[in-house]
Amino acid sequence: MKLVFGVFGDPIGHSLSPAMHNAAFSALGMNCVYHAFRVRPEKLGKAILGAEAMGFGGLNLTVPLKEEALKLDFIKPDPLAKRIGAVNTVVFGKTGEIRGHNTDGLGARQALRDAAVEIEGSRVVVAGAGGAARAIAFQLAADGAKITVINRTEERAIELATDVAAAALPGKISGTGLSGLKELLRDADVLINTTTLGMHPNTDATIATAEELHSDLTVFDIVYNPLETRLLKEAKAAGAKTVSGVLMLVYQGAEAFKLWTGVEPPVELMKKTVLEALQ
Ligand code: ATR
Repeated sequence: MKLVFGVFGDPIGHSLSPAMHNAAFSALGMNCVYHAFRVRPEKLGKAILGAEAMGFGGLNLTVPLKEEALKLDFIKPDPLAKRIGAVNTVVFGKTGEIRGHNTDGLGARQALRDAAVEIEGSRVVVAGAGGAARAIAFQLAADGAKITVINRTEERAIELATDVAAAALPGKISGTGLSGLKELLRDADVLINTTTLGMHPNTDATIATAEELHSDLTVFDIVYNPLETRLLKEAKAAGAKTVSGVLMLVYQGAEAFKLWTGVEPPVELMKKTVLEALQ
């Protein structure tokens, strides 16, 4: 019998996780299968307990369930997931415990490392203050980055920066409104877009244009639909290094895979599978 893994979300029809994980299981000759399940927030508790009762190997959670999971008292979040306020990976322990992790920040870190970005001491502008921004800010602060969170709703940026600062991590962080972006970018090493700007179907939108970017900058857009966002095009036009959001997707999945199985997954194959699905 195959060991079943799954991703819960709503909507979930377009998830790339089943293709990515099933490719990895096949390549490794593991008798496992990964499915997508539509789960409404109010049913999350029942769905997770049901999966545990049925002997699932592990779960991913996606929109709108990541924050919901922390409201369930039977999930034991690790310190990072607790700080972020969101769980994207559920691990079923051998003795019945259900653990919540968040691998989004690790995914972003690995994507930046692939681009040879030295995170410690680098000046990073994180645009957006939603769940993805929280995961990235906590991780990069732990790695010693100097972060400015910049957001349309300034209070959210300040709140995120305050939360990260309270964790007393090695990095530095502050939060501000969008109007300061141009000036901030002049002295920045990395720009990470975590806002929905540029995402299909609003592909013309961008947080910054080529004139505001420069060639010493690494521009990382976590939006991967379309594959080359307007922001990444603007970054190329400015001579900046670019990092695709596909990498964060693949690496957060790879970290989840390791947590469930203890096995190192074939990330190049996972990347290829996701890229093919997005063509
Ligand atoms: P997630 O949890 O996936 O990161 P989210 O919580 O919906 O997503 O956050 C989306 C982010 O995109 C927010 O930072 C949002 O800004 P606000 O906090 O001001 O809402 C940002 N965003 C969405 N549309 C935007 C737009 N048109 N211009 C600027 N920022 C935008």
